[in-house]
Amino acid sequence: MKALAELAKRRGFFFQTGSAYGGVSGFYTYGPHGATLKATVESAWRERWATREGHDEIDAPTIMPEAVFEASGHLDGFDDLLVECPACEQSHRADHLVEGQTDIAEAESYTAKEIEGLLAEHGITCPSCGAPLAEEPVEQFNLMFETAIGPGSTNRGYLRPETAQGIFVDFPRLREYARGELPFGVAQIGRAYRNEISPRNAIVRTREFNQAELELFFDPDEDEPDLESVADVEAPLFSAEAQTADGEPSFQTIGAAVESGPIADDWVGYYVGVATAWYDRIGIDLDRVRFRQHQAAERAHYARDCWDAEADVSGPGQDPEWIELAGIANRGTYDLSHHEAHTDERYRVFSEYDEPRTVERASVEPDMAALGPEYGSQAADIAAALEDLAETDQRAFEGETVAVEVDGETVEIPTEQTGFAVEEVTERGEQITPHVIEPSMGIDRTVYTILVHAYDEDEIDGEERTVLRLPPEMAPTLVGVFPLMDKDGLGEQARNLAADLRAVGLSVTYDDSGAIGRRYRRQDEIGTPYCVTVDYESLDDGTVTVRDRDTTDQVRVGIDELAATLAALQDGELAFDQL
Ligand code: GAP
Repeated sequence: MKALAELAKRRGFFFQTGSAYGGVSGFYTYGPHGATLKATVESAWRERWATREGHDEIDAPTIMPEAVFEASGHLDGFDDLLVECPACEQSHRADHLVEGQTDIAEAESYTAKEIEGLLAEHGITCPSCGAPLAEEPVEQFNLMFETAIGPGSTNRGYLRPETAQGIFVDFPRLREYARGELPFGVAQIGRAYRNEISPRNAIVRTREFNQAELELFFDPDEDEPDLESVADVEAPLFSAEAQTADGEPSFQTIGAAVESGPIADDWVGYYVGVATAWYDRIGIDLDRVRFRQHQAAERAHYARDCWDAEADVSGPGQDPEWIELAGIANRGTYDLSHHEAHTDERYRVFSEYDEPRTVERASVEPDMAALGPEYGSQAADIAAALEDLAETDQRAFEGETVAVEVDGETVEIPTEQTGFAVEEVTERGEQITPHVIEPSMGIDRTVYTILVHAYDEDEIDGEERTVLRLPPEMAPTLVGVFPLMDKDGLGEQARNLAADLRAVGLSVTYDDSGAIGRRYRRQDEIGTPYCVTVDYESLDDGTVTVRDRDTTDQVRVGIDELAATLAALQDGELAFDQL
């Protein structure tokens, strides 16, 4: 929406960074109102997704060593499909070109070879210069920004492409803070970096952006979410099945969707419910939201099931334009087991049985006095291989000899030299790798959607105005305070009033420049829900006018009850028409 982008720049929500230097695509700065709105979204997220759920929040570094991303799979699997135009040398996301120039949706799930075929079959052209791309190769392009840690180039690092890895790598320590008890959640809000091939739509697709992620660690055999608390929430669900059948999203209660499909996972259902209610609260229009289930081929390398929250950010009268606000994924044990495999740490928790269990435990005590002279330096590896085998396959020790693989060679060891024994032991529990459910939200896209859904144009007293209908809780400024004129003591009283309101924690803009109507328009454009005017009557009877942004109705309120009235309006305890 061009009008919104202009408003965002003019009124200090967001603008492209460093335009004096020509600006680099994919980098945006939040201006004063945008920074406040972003901070409010983050606080609302923290309150709902961390504090209210009883989860801890951490703040990890944004640069991590290569080994972390080798383990996480990002080094090998975090690619987008790139095609370069032979004529103008512009780079493009090949799957986006296919989506834009054909009826194919979700082309992200196609392979490079398949996309090459589609470029040729559909005569796809370069959107910048119109040159044909039918013959061009499509490549996998890794989205991570690489850097060198410290002097020299041997210690390679990467800017994190998701905040999540900062939580996973330090799971062994975070587990201690949770006293090793599942389920527990760890939240994080912070920057993430992706070297996007074609950043677009202002803050919707940037190269440096903000995520708010929750990693919920749980035991799938034991832990259940509080489904009851969201059972009645009606969420707009777009199942994989409905997508395949060219169907539409439909509102279903979370209770029904989890009980009889399409949501198979209770935890995913719970978070779809929490997200629906949260979006409604922060000013996102649920009639322009859908939760879309990923098709199997579309899921990220780590995800077992995933539902994306998507919002329509088209302008009035345009075709819907869906952007992804969040992903709610079941990541299984993928991350913890990979970090365990790449380190010497255990990424598990001790899970206690209801009752202690007596089990048979096999062990070996290899006769090193015999193995040492015969196998020399290989003897220790043979002993380790025998230990592994005893844990996994007791029957291998039933014959005269036991076969183990060492350095690609099969070695036969006389069973009597293995010291194999089976004994009964009583165990209180076992070490398990927790599963992970991850609601992962893009803060910038949330801010953008709030603005698009709040944006409106109407006519007041024959004059057109632009207005952001933000919920009072989200508005960067709660109240504009104006003197009717800056004379006869009106200015002084209005300045004192603004200071008093700020002193009780309300966000206030003081404005005495220009005609009063223009001051109202300015506040309407930044979504200020209330404007207070100090006029001559105020000097006589100690009241001011309070104007409502949406209806433009005005009422007189006593100065001594103004702060409490505004706070109640902000918290939703009072509606303007009750004044
Ligand atoms: N940890 C999981 C993860 O990172 P994702 O779907 O790749 O999942 C989560 O990202 C959210 O981050 C997205 O739903 C989106 O809102 C936001 N996001 C991703 N790439 C972005 C970009 N280039 N610019 C702005 N926001 C982005």
